[in-house]
Amino acid sequence: MKAYKWGILGTGNIAHKFARALMLLDNAHLYAVVSRDAGRAEKFAGEFGFVKHFGSYEEMLADPGVEVVYISSPHSQHMEHTLMALQNGKHVICEKPMSITAAEVSRMIDEAGRKGLFLMEALWPPFQPSYLNADEILKSGRMGELLHIRGKFAFVSPYDPELRTYNLAMGGGSLLDIGIYPVMDILRYMGEPEHVVATSVFAPTGADESTAIIFRFRDGRLAEAYSSFANMGGVSTEFNCENGNLILTRGRDRNQHLIIEMQGDVDDRIFTPPAQGYQYEAAEVMSCLDKGLTESPVVPLSFSLTLARTLDEVRRKAGIRYPGRDR
Ligand SMILES: NC(=O)c1ccc[n+]([C@@H]2O[C@H](COP(=O)([O-])OP(=O)(O)OC[C@H]3O[C@@H](n4cnc5c(N)ncnc54)[C@H](OP(=O)(O)O)[C@@H]3O)[C@@H](O)[C@H]2O)c1
Repeated sequence: MKAYKWGILGTGNIAHKFARALMLLDNAHLYAVVSRDAGRAEKFAGEFGFVKHFGSYEEMLADPGVEVVYISSPHSQHMEHTLMALQNGKHVICEKPMSITAAEVSRMIDEAGRKGLFLMEALWPPFQPSYLNADEILKSGRMGELLHIRGKFAFVSPYDPELRTYNLAMGGGSLLDIGIYPVMDILRYMGEPEHVVATSVFAPTGADESTAIIFRFRDGRLAEAYSSFANMGGVSTEFNCENGNLILTRGRDRNQHLIIEMQGDVDDRIFTPPAQGYQYEAAEVMSCLDKGLTESPVVPLSFSLTLARTLDEVRRKAGIRYPGRDR
């Protein structure tokens, strides 16, 4: 089995979780980490056992040993950092959202194509055991037709203009940070919507604190998505079918639940993957590289582009603006 030398770009919240998950994979070599602050990179390397640490993004990306890079910077920097990694010949998995606009996502995809390198958006839910089980049940036909989806992602993040989540210059706002998940769930099963209705409530910085969306699809189906930093609504997506409902949810305990409601029965299946399941997306990257693929069949680049285009349309309808990024 080939082991891949990973480089982690950025040492924030999600980078810690991803590094912990990488440690579970025998074919992942924790090779390098980079921070804008050399001391932070050294501490991170020590915590997880990375062989090398760097205080400049350019330096790590120039290291010929690094084969695949995980981009964990704020959304606003994803395009710049992904392009830098690709231009240095590295395969890339980039945190969600892939970038602020569909035009930027398209540029990233074009660059990966030009270089013949792997690129994937780090959309982790489709790799989770609860999602795989839901996919299997929906595909089996036993629930009948999927008729409607309603998804939400909401938690309280008290307003602080300094936080990434409220800072427009870092891509702040609930839609791109967490609303992307219910939107992803809807698009995975229903495709690209033909009509979008959306409205937001804004924080003083201009970041959307809450966003509510209704999608209509060509076949007449409807779906709704909601995101908020203003209430403890939690994380769930409900799939309403002819013969019953499937509900994918994450509890406060972080367990994944798949609840199947059918003919009066309720089957609550609980999944507790180690390291919160972040290893599965990393395993997918390496499995694709083993096969010589430049994108994942599970989260293909065409899906990331459709998602970004849909998020652009939601932003246009709701009036969510990122100054300098809205071309
Ligand atoms: N998949 C998931 O479940 C999940 C969960 C949370 C977040 N995310 C995504 O991951 C990305 C990072 O989120 P996070 O919560 O980890 O953020 P965070 O804690 O603020 O970390 C971001 C890191 O990016 C680096 N960075 C590079 N340029 C920066 C800049 N101009 N300003 C600030 N930091 C900069 C910093 O690392 P250095 O200073 O060390 O260079 C910083 O620690 C976001 O795009 C978010 O959507 C995904």
